[in-house]
Amino acid sequence: MSKLTGLLNWVDARFPLSANWKAHMSEYYAPKNFNFWYYFGSLALLVLVIQIVTGIFLTMSYKPDAAQAFASVEYIMRDVPWGWLIRYMHSTGASMFFVVVYLHMFRGLLYGSYRKPRELIWIIGMLIYLTLMAEAFFGYLLPWGQMSYWGGQVIVNLFGAIPFIGEDLSLWIRGDYVVSDATLNRFFAFHVIALPLVLIVLVVAHILALHEVGSNNPDGIEIKDNKDPQTGHPKDGIAFHPYYTVKDLVGVVVFLALFSAIMFFVPEMGGYFLEYNNFIPADPLHTPDHIAPIWYFTPFYSILRAVTYPLFGIDAKFWGVLAMGGSVMIFFALPWLDRGRVKSIRYRGWIFKTALTIFVISFIVLGYLGTLAPTRATTMLVQILAVIYFAFFILMPWYTRIDPVKPVPDRLQT
Ligand code: HEM
Repeated sequence: MSKLTGLLNWVDARFPLSANWKAHMSEYYAPKNFNFWYYFGSLALLVLVIQIVTGIFLTMSYKPDAAQAFASVEYIMRDVPWGWLIRYMHSTGASMFFVVVYLHMFRGLLYGSYRKPRELIWIIGMLIYLTLMAEAFFGYLLPWGQMSYWGGQVIVNLFGAIPFIGEDLSLWIRGDYVVSDATLNRFFAFHVIALPLVLIVLVVAHILALHEVGSNNPDGIEIKDNKDPQTGHPKDGIAFHPYYTVKDLVGVVVFLALFSAIMFFVPEMGGYFLEYNNFIPADPLHTPDHIAPIWYFTPFYSILRAVTYPLFGIDAKFWGVLAMGGSVMIFFALPWLDRGRVKSIRYRGWIFKTALTIFVISFIVLGYLGTLAPTRATTMLVQILAVIYFAFFILMPWYTRIDPVKPVPDRLQT
């Protein structure tokens, strides 16, 4: 027995190391037909690690103080050795996190991964998504630029639209009558410790829930229904390690190449990843002409701005906030809205395929329009797209039931 095996046995007698490695890696049987869309879970994990590690280094030189925050970020960019790299990794990572997570969620829609028995994986995923939004929002205030300041002001003021308690609530969130040093301090605390902890716990729960029921796949067929009587393993399954660890590594290399290209050549991404107004220090006395959130929030921001009429004597802002909140929260209901007889897009009929295509187009156009200053014409277009957005969900129980689906085979096809 080698010294290493001896050490492993010693650990195993005291901690379930090999047992966990087997359960989650070398003897976790995943469907053999994972495709492109299945890279994004592991890539999301990678970006989470990048954000935490670069965040730790940024925190070493950043000052959460309204009088020093902006200058400390400039100091990181100019004077701290490799500070510019760390900062650009973190800012590029923030946007790429959302790129990866949106593609990961879209995969869920393509293959019905939110359907029974994976409802909890989806719900935990949605909790991750909400936490990620809050994490990004808190982080955006920290550079204390014009967009940090006024974006923060606008979003916190939205809480003011809630009847009766709204004004007190936004005051409580800010810790002051306007966004100020007190706000910066608490947002810093949430951004660097509270929400990262919540994210890590949720991601662990997400993967535990996934490993409990097993992964879905592009055919939407349950591989556990077809086990080899001799080995007890799914006939269409392969061990996660080494097969998918190696496959995911290919995704990691391609992703990091793309990530580096953005970081080294276009870190601002034309104002989408780092907004130009945020290179100007926060000025509470000067509101920028046009305030827009960063790109990953703009579809929902559009929906907020789509509501322009008061209703039941309550002003439009309240209904806008409600619509915006609803447009995110409605994703939680997907597992129960989808009544289709098949899971994967491969066996769905033309109705679901058309609905999904129209939904994706509206989401993207809403996102684009959310970056622009509103005009009468764009507001009308946004209103139409917002109706389409909600129709995708609300009509889902009906159109998935009448969708002319194709027969699903017993075994994986690829
Ligand atoms: C930090 C963010 C996230 C991380 C690190 C993460 C990680 C993972 C990993 C590693 C997998 C298995 C590999 C794969 O199927 O791609 C997975 C599966 C899954 N995730 Fe996530 N995830 C995140 C966010 C989300 C979000 C926001 C949602 C949806 C709202 C979601 C829904 C799902 C679903 C439904 C599956 C099962 C997919 C299937 O088996 O077809 N995840 N996730």
